[in-house]
Amino acid sequence: MFHMGWFVGYGFGVQSWNQTWSGAGGVEWYKPDLYIDMAHAMERSGFDYMMIEDSSCIPDIFGGSMESVLRNAHGAPKHDPMALAPILAVNTKHLGIVVTAATSFYPPYLLARLSATLDHLSEGRFGVNLVTASSDRAAQNYGLDKHYEHDLRYEMADEWAELVVKLWDSWEPDAVVLDEKSGVFADHTKVHYANFEGKYYKSRGPLQVIASPQRRPVICQAGGSEAGKAFATRWADTVVAAARGVDHMKQARADMTARLLAAGRDPNSCKMLFLIMPVLGETKDEAMEKRRRIVEARKQDVEFMLQTMSYASGQDFSKYDVDKPLPEFDTNGHRSTIADFARSANGKTLREMAAFRTMESIELVGTPDSVAAEMSEVMQEVGGDGFLIGNAVERRQIAEICDGLMPALQRRGVVRTEYAHKTLRENLLAF
Ligand SMILES: Cc1cc2nc3c(=O)[nH]c(=O)nc-3n(C[C@H](O)[C@H](O)[C@H](O)COP(=O)(O)O)c2cc1C
Repeated sequence: MFHMGWFVGYGFGVQSWNQTWSGAGGVEWYKPDLYIDMAHAMERSGFDYMMIEDSSCIPDIFGGSMESVLRNAHGAPKHDPMALAPILAVNTKHLGIVVTAATSFYPPYLLARLSATLDHLSEGRFGVNLVTASSDRAAQNYGLDKHYEHDLRYEMADEWAELVVKLWDSWEPDAVVLDEKSGVFADHTKVHYANFEGKYYKSRGPLQVIASPQRRPVICQAGGSEAGKAFATRWADTVVAAARGVDHMKQARADMTARLLAAGRDPNSCKMLFLIMPVLGETKDEAMEKRRRIVEARKQDVEFMLQTMSYASGQDFSKYDVDKPLPEFDTNGHRSTIADFARSANGKTLREMAAFRTMESIELVGTPDSVAAEMSEVMQEVGGDGFLIGNAVERRQIAEICDGLMPALQRRGVVRTEYAHKTLRENLLAF
């Protein structure tokens, strides 16, 4: 069996509006119902977790203005996904809820306390997707002039995580004794100061939050650079990867296994999920036609790609000639994303690249049954742990994935039909 997640790529933001199947997307994205509907559908079809993206700025690199982003609602506005998590938690029983948090901006104590509280509220189903964040704009919102250099922010993240874990661990699981006879609520000898003093962070501790059901909420990670992978090796329970094709997927999983072994960790203790965006139809032809229209729409919208790449790299792509290949440049942003983009360019012009610009690891087009068969084969070949759906969050896609694809996977016996455990980590480790 393998695991399934769904990446809510626009965060707690505008998921879909002004499209045929958006419904009331323009006004309901900031209310909980859409996400509750999605969580119910994911839960009835056996998903491991919903992972919610986040960033904290309105991108204005492209053309030096917020115009393109706000006109199209591409990546902004965006509300705080931490506030959505408890609503999803009380509306579900089994689904993992993973929310993105930037190590560079969250004070460790604040995140340790918030995430442990959410782990209680969800009864052990909470996780954090730890990113270092990439944009100067976000850094400026938190009082910096520009973002820390790429590898430095991972070095800082490492120390940050060490402290957060120490704070999570500050209460021993049996510190709360609740002895009504002797009148003792908690045994103070089982609550420990962190007394942490690192190069970048300092905190006394302990947390005031009692040990949560998972004690350490699940840690998810997505960085593809050398520094990102080293961070994942040390801390992650699950990593999400945008690889390119089966060979690259295989290589990514083998690399992670080797790194975990070298670090003295069980390679099965970190689950690697690969990003996919299946295009589903009632027939193969219908799905192919749908795919053709998606590629056509991408070609017509070169600006979307240019704006996305401007955000990821911090370079203004509006200054490049779209009918010429991508010039070389260095970035302090999403380094591995840009490197991957440059590699896949292969001499193509930016306009030509717009049609192919996608982060999916393998292209999946077909009926729920044929796509389920392909996913099973690929997973077997790759030796990976599962997939992360990256499709747009709108009810038609939710139904296609959760009521079409997932049941087809369940019929093949490759994804769960029921949850064996209570907590997210236990369910991740179950197979
Ligand atoms: C599936 C996926 C989800 C991601 N989600 C976020 C996110 O929510 N916020 C963010 O700042 N970066 C996000 N990233 C970017 C990564 O954290 C990372 O910066 C990027 O993959 C480049 O890797 P590097 O920073 O190690 O160079 C995501 C990447 C992937 C592949």
